[in-house]
Amino acid sequence: MNAKLAVLFFLLTIGMAMPILLGFREVADVQLPNLHTNYQPTQPIPYSHRLHAGVLNIDCQYCHTGADEGRHAAIPSLDTCWNCHKTVKGRTASAKESIALLEKAYNNGMGEGVAWKRVHNNADFVYFNHQTHVRIAQFIDADGNVTDGIDCAQCHGDMTKEGVARQKEQLTMGFCINCHRDQNQRHEAAKLPARAPVNACDACHR
Ligand code: HEC
Ligand code: HEC
Ligand code: HEC
Ligand code: HEC
Ligand code: HEC
Repeated sequence: MNAKLAVLFFLLTIGMAMPILLGFREVADVQLPNLHTNYQPTQPIPYSHRLHAGVLNIDCQYCHTGADEGRHAAIPSLDTCWNCHKTVKGRTASAKESIALLEKAYNNGMGEGVAWKRVHNNADFVYFNHQTHVRIAQFIDADGNVTDGIDCAQCHGDMTKEGVARQKEQLTMGFCINCHRDQNQRHEAAKLPARAPVNACDACHR
């Protein structure tokens, strides 16, 4: 092999090894939004889940309506925020400043809302329905306790520890199937009907 070829060969090898060196996850993160674990885009208003869902203990579904009624959980309109923020203007300088952004957006558009950046985004060829999971499914934990509906935290992590939302799970097929398989096994062990699709491809790809 001559010197030029050897250099080319070396560069090609490095090129091919790069995804392995960097870790496939990181490379995938750049390309596929649904695989973005820890994706936490900067949002137009520094809204805090820690404060609202944690300290103030506001129920997730007060803002994310529809999670128990249909496919998608809604992102709240500013009217929901305004219920409180027409009077709550903030105590610290930084809170006042952030709430002023909210007030400006509200006065500009009423309801037109804030351009929140989407965090989770399943591939288009995947069917996922919140209602089935949040309300209809029975969930059996590792100790065999049965609850009606799957807690948001099972899939979204403990959002009461976050500022703006952060994606916890890679929305891969394995993420869905692993839970389905575990749940079906636990349901069979408890003599309950096992209904989570594993081999029925068209349940999730319709
Ligand atoms: C079994 C897993 C699972 C559970 C339980 C779950 N989610 Fe989700 N959530 C997802 C997936 C998957 C997506 C991405 C959906 C998409 O892109 O179509 C998502 C997306 C969202 C979104 C973005 C809007 C949308 O629907 O695409 C919000 C808001 C949300 N979830 C809130 C909640 C809340 C609040 C709860 C509890 C009441 C909850 N989720 C329970 C898996 C879950
Ligand atoms: C149930 C009442 C309630 C609702 C609904 C509510 N907030 Fe708040 N929010 C508060 C309170 C209370 C504070 C604390 C203000 C203070 O005393 O500093 C606050 C603080 C804030 C702050 C300042 C945080 C900081 O410390 O920097 C922002 C920004 C904010 N809210 C945005 C929103 C947005 C956006 C929505 C709607 C999606 C919303 N809030 C809905 C009660 C609410
Ligand atoms: C934490 C566990 C868990 C995770 C994660 C999960 N599921 Fe499920 N899923 C269930 C259970 C339990 C059922 C059975 C519901 C019932 O009792 O009918 C179910 C049922 C379903 C069904 C059949 C009912 C319907 O809605 O049509 C589909 C489709 C489905 N899941 C899609 C998904 C997809 C897609 C994902 C991943 C993005 C996912 N699931 C992630 C637990 C889970
Ligand atoms: C006071 C209203 C409010 C409450 C309460 C609230 N959220 Fe949110 N949530 C928002 C807003 C506004 C956004 C959009 C900005 C962001 O991404 O943080 C959001 C975003 C999200 C997203 C990301 C949506 C996407 O684009 O993929 C998830 C998931 C979520 N919230 C889950 C929860 C869970 C779980 C709880 C309860 C523990 C909760 N939220 C409580 C207002 C709220
Ligand atoms: C519980 C839901 C679920 C079931 C059942 C399911 N899939 Fe998937 N599948 C997914 C999700 C979610 C993705 C998206 C993965 C991604 O974006 O990386 C996916 C992705 C795929 C892809 C794209 C390549 C890839 O891996 O990203 C193929 C092909 C596929 N599924 C085939 C199948 C076949 C064949 C079956 C039946 C044996 C099946 N799936 C059953 C949820 C499911």
